[in-house]
Amino acid sequence: MKKIHKELPILFETAHAELASALEMLAACKETDSPKQAFGYFMHAKDEYNHSSSFFKMLSKRGKKASVRIARDFRFTPPSLIRKGYISNKGFLIDTMKLKDFIAFVYTNELLAKSSFENILILVGHDTKEGKIISSIMVDELRHHGMAKKFFLKHYPSLQPWQLMIYRAKETINNKGRKLYDANLKLLDRLLTPLYVALAYIVGTMAKKLNLNEFKRKGKNLMNVSSNSIL
Ligand SMILES: [Fe+2]
Ligand SMILES: [Fe+2]
Repeated sequence: MKKIHKELPILFETAHAELASALEMLAACKETDSPKQAFGYFMHAKDEYNHSSSFFKMLSKRGKKASVRIARDFRFTPPSLIRKGYISNKGFLIDTMKLKDFIAFVYTNELLAKSSFENILILVGHDTKEGKIISSIMVDELRHHGMAKKFFLKHYPSLQPWQLMIYRAKETINNKGRKLYDANLKLLDRLLTPLYVALAYIVGTMAKKLNLNEFKRKGKNLMNVSSNSIL
């Protein structure tokens, strides 16, 4: 059970990241005027949808084994893609970034995705059925990385490797920031929930003690009611 508790958040976040990539690719597909590029983006989106579906299946398998109290924290809702920062509330990357930055983003993220899958692979085991699925996802990610690299070198040949390293460092920091933000939200939730419950209890106790007959106005001369009264 301890292993499941460790796997749940990792699979949950990965499924989010993959689904967000699929949506980003689909947005890019809609935006481009080049049929060749549109096809490339579309196929990439299809791969990312399949990846997210695989991770959601792995998540659901573990969710069924966990207690309801734990499992409900890992229920997917589409707005969490924005709340968790996988999709910006300012719009899709293709709309908010220059094409050059967008391709660099894809280029670096595909490599980062592959290395984060290596850790998941260790968690689920290389030789398991799930391990084989993850290995084939890693092959896809490397292919995406290769495609973005090819596109990049063709359109921006003057870009130096150190510039791509800066892009990569920036993305690594962003990914860490996203995890920190999510952890902070969870901590706030843990701190504030008892406070909300205590407040609800106090208000409930006060409401129970109120004599509601005082609120009846029938037969009352309203002119005699004090101006300070809440009636
Ligand atoms: Fe992927
Ligand atoms: Fe990918």
